[in-house]
Amino acid sequence: MAEHLYHEPVMVRETLTLLLTDPDGIYLDGTLGGGGHAAAILSGLREGKLIGFDRDPDAIAACRGAFGEELARGERSRVELVHGSYVLACSREDLRGRVQGILLDLGVSSHQLDEPSRGFSYRFDAPLDLRFGGDAASEPSAAELLASLDEREIADILYRFGEERSSRRIARAIVAARRHAPIRTTGQLRAIVERCVHPRQRTDALSRVFQALRIAVNRELDELERFLSCVPSLLCRGGRIVVITYHSLEDRIVKAAFRQHAADGRLQILTRKPLRPQPEEIERNRRSRSAKLRAAERV
Ligand SMILES: C[S@@+](CC[C@H](N)C(=O)[O-])C[C@H]1O[C@@H](n2cnc3c(N)ncnc32)[C@H](O)[C@@H]1O
Repeated sequence: MAEHLYHEPVMVRETLTLLLTDPDGIYLDGTLGGGGHAAAILSGLREGKLIGFDRDPDAIAACRGAFGEELARGERSRVELVHGSYVLACSREDLRGRVQGILLDLGVSSHQLDEPSRGFSYRFDAPLDLRFGGDAASEPSAAELLASLDEREIADILYRFGEERSSRRIARAIVAARRHAPIRTTGQLRAIVERCVHPRQRTDALSRVFQALRIAVNRELDELERFLSCVPSLLCRGGRIVVITYHSLEDRIVKAAFRQHAADGRLQILTRKPLRPQPEEIERNRRSRSAKLRAAERV
């Protein structure tokens, strides 16, 4: 599979410039997606190794295709793919203090948004799931969450993770609607949201509501905080971390964690202000427009 059909990677040049400091080092890509960033990192390696993680089985399948030749080298393969959260890296003894570079490119891939059956987008009618996939058996879907939470908890999620101003009204409408029938599809949720906001605000409100539910269902901010707390113990001296975020809450968490580690004398911040994509990139790839990149180095 051509990785660009799956997802066009964002700020690749900036990422490589900051991340690749030793062609023989171990690199982690915590959010493989279609493997665009991972392929770019691999092309800069000599004897180095790339370990990639993704919670989504579709991403792992896409990367098995993209890195087929490398994986076929068996013991000598420079690529290892792990189906699961990037937090798994924190408990791997073999990586402790040995990682040269870590990349997190957070959020969703274009594949997840554009694949109707995944239910990540309000543009298609599909089961209201929104889980990245890997741990589907152990965590509730968006539909289960909306069935079990009370009105206030739903409003809090929409406000906190989506900064949705009509959060209370939408939560009230969700609770009223579920008294008649369970909310099982993206289409049902879309109709409820559309009834709560002005027609001109519908698209933005729908994006915010779906984003908020996705972040809550996958506990994305908790995962990020947990991982960032273990980053200094993974990196070797001079090793670097690059994080690309698409949401102000994520960026705030990265900024705060880097500052904390800098205050403890474990990381040096390399980007005083986050880097943004060049205008040409935003022109070419609209999904890059909200990207913010921060980097830090182990001292
Ligand atoms: C923006 S995409 C990454 C795109 C990738 N950089 C590329 O070049 O194609 C984000 C990916 O992160 C994955 N993801 C989100 N949270 C994760 C987590 N906690 N652990 C592992 N993967 C995660 C999603 O499933 C998605 O595939």
